Amino acid sequence: MNPNKALWEKGDFTRIAETIRDSGRILIDGLDVGPGMEVLDLGCGDGTTALPAAELGANVLGVDIASNLVAAGRARAAAAGLSKISFEEGDASDLMNIADERFDLVVSIFGAMFAPCPCDVAREMVRVIKPGGRIVMGNWIPGDPTLVAQVLKISAAYTPPPPEGFVSPVSWGVEANVRERFEAAGIAPDQISATPTTCIFTYDGSPAELLDLFRHYYGPTMNAYAAAESAGRTEDLHAELRTLFEQQNQGGADNTVIHATFLKVIVRK
Ligand SMILES: C[S@@+](CC[C@H](N)C(=O)[O-])C[C@H]1O[C@@H](n2cnc3c(N)ncnc32)[C@H](O)[C@@H]1O
Repeated sequence: MNPNKALWEKGDFTRIAETIRDSGRILIDGLDVGPGMEVLDLGCGDGTTALPAAELGANVLGVDIASNLVAAGRARAAAAGLSKISFEEGDASDLMNIADERFDLVVSIFGAMFAPCPCDVAREMVRVIKPGGRIVMGNWIPGDPTLVAQVLKISAAYTPPPPEGFVSPVSWGVEANVRERFEAAGIAPDQISATPTTCIFTYDGSPAELLDLFRHYYGPTMNAYAAAESAGRTEDLHAELRTLFEQQNQGGADNTVIHATFLKVIVRK
């Protein structure tokens, strides 16, 4: 099976997504989404940003590589009574079922960054937006001291080296790479901006319990725990991550609030 698909179907990202719903809504509220707008949410998961866009009246398509998350998105949209939203399985590297220049806005928050072949991803996003349309990406930043960048860094240190030619997802968190990829896809340099931005994880439980969600449901962390177990290093990994979650918590002992920095990329065609 495609390892990228296997990684995300292995867990259940809905369990983590529940802790960032407010940030997803706030992000969409800042994008002037309105009735009649055509919006693609790429790597949509269970619709953290797709549902708020549909609630604002846009016609929304959510595309994700994980069939379990596509099903979860459909279920959430149905439960919310939303009709102008649909979800499809697909790969951000090759949006073969989507016509050129279909969308006004492509949103991809911590989504397309995980697809292999980043230049193909940039080219596909540019292809499917209309002239004058926008692409908005949220990408974790390599080396950033806050939560998810550190989770990915620590997890990678316990996971076997990736195959040759693998491009790290967090390379999308470096502005120079973002510029190179979108300029190669035909975007003018002055139409690309990248700004560090904050998203907030809120969880009604302790930092250790939030870490448990990552351990059991977040693909990259699940793989790190599996590799650490094979190497007899589970306790080391767990201690490192537990310290991280506790240090990052700005809430209380049973109420976790963690601010995480990402690179917000805005591209205009
Ligand atoms: C960290 S989750 C974010 C989900 C959602 N955007 C959110 O903010 O809740 C990453 C998502 O990207 C999806 N994904 C990973 N690789 C993908 C690819 N090649 N094409 C489409 N989706 C992909 C995963 O299945 C997962 O749903």
